[in-house]
Amino acid sequence: MARGEDVVSFGIGEPDFETPPFIAEAAIEAIRRGETRYTATEGTPVLRAAIVSYLERTEGLQYGPAEVMASVGAKQALYNALLALVDPGDAVLIPAPYWVSYPEQVRLAGGVPVTVPTDPARGYHLTVEDLEQAYRPGVRGLIVNSPNNPTGALVADTDARAIAAFCERHDLFVIADEIYHRLTYGPSPVTSLASLPGMRERTVIVNGVSKSYAMTGWRIGFAAGPSEVVAAMGRIQGQTTSNPTSVSQAAAAAALTGDDRSVDVMRRRFEARRHLMLAGLADMAGLHPVVPDGAFYIWVETGWLTGQHEGRPLADGDVLARFLLERARVAVVPGSGFGGPLAVRLSFAQSEERILEGLSRMKKVLQTSV
Ligand SMILES: Cc1ncc(COP(=O)(O)O)c(C=O)c1O
Repeated sequence: MARGEDVVSFGIGEPDFETPPFIAEAAIEAIRRGETRYTATEGTPVLRAAIVSYLERTEGLQYGPAEVMASVGAKQALYNALLALVDPGDAVLIPAPYWVSYPEQVRLAGGVPVTVPTDPARGYHLTVEDLEQAYRPGVRGLIVNSPNNPTGALVADTDARAIAAFCERHDLFVIADEIYHRLTYGPSPVTSLASLPGMRERTVIVNGVSKSYAMTGWRIGFAAGPSEVVAAMGRIQGQTTSNPTSVSQAAAAAALTGDDRSVDVMRRRFEARRHLMLAGLADMAGLHPVVPDGAFYIWVETGWLTGQHEGRPLADGDVLARFLLERARVAVVPGSGFGGPLAVRLSFAQSEERILEGLSRMKKVLQTSV
């Protein structure tokens, strides 16, 4: 920390692992080969072929090279998709809690974000009933993030089928943010909405190498969808950033086509840390952690806390986050930015030792004030 204080951060939104060496090596090789010039806006043919084969291998989905493109992180792929699909005034359904950038990107694209509350009693798993309740005329699209940041909730296969039928019935486009697809902890495989009948032609898949391959700084995301939408996204990218960094593209191509053992090693480490964090949170009275199916976050409901901090109820996520930082020197992210003010988000992308230290600090201050 800038003031030299020892803060345990549970605020981290990226893997704490190093990028696997064979991936970094591929970038070094690309520099040696002189791959340091502009590439095609949508990504090199090598990377696009790697994206095509990755989607086939991991999701069983068949796309052609003209139906995929690379961007500067999944974030740019999402924004390109929204700019391509949203007309001024179009409403877009966003299940809450949501990743912070969705509503802002919809607004930047001229659209109107429509929050879809999901049920805490059902672990925030999105259902078609949630969507039906929020639907109104003028809704043109839906953003689905499974596993979800911040709750870790998956869309169950049966729910996905009902959601697909809902999207067909209302003729909606879907942006499926699958950035955490490889980081799941349950027995059931995660369904890609695009794999369901009638969905491929209305869905843009957004994914990337940031989270699965510990490559957040390389800034490579990708999208797959109908060729006319991907072409429009390519034209938008062509007038904004042009291609993502050439050497990062070489690294991403190596990641997507290379030995996947490193992904599984990281996934298993996350799984063990998830267990550690859940066990520690279980004995803190007043905190209700939601067991995540995927990603590396735990959404902790604060509504049952009874203490106060500086005259304000600790049950509020903003107040609890400030309290934990000031009293325990533990950083957590308040839920308000994710559309859940009575919660905080804790990341377990942190070493086992620091997780234990942070939990013990939290426990101490909560015991004395609740
Ligand atoms: C749900 C979700 N989507 C997209 C992104 C953006 O990923 P990238 O770093 O590849 O832009 C993140 C990053 O935190 C995320 O949590």
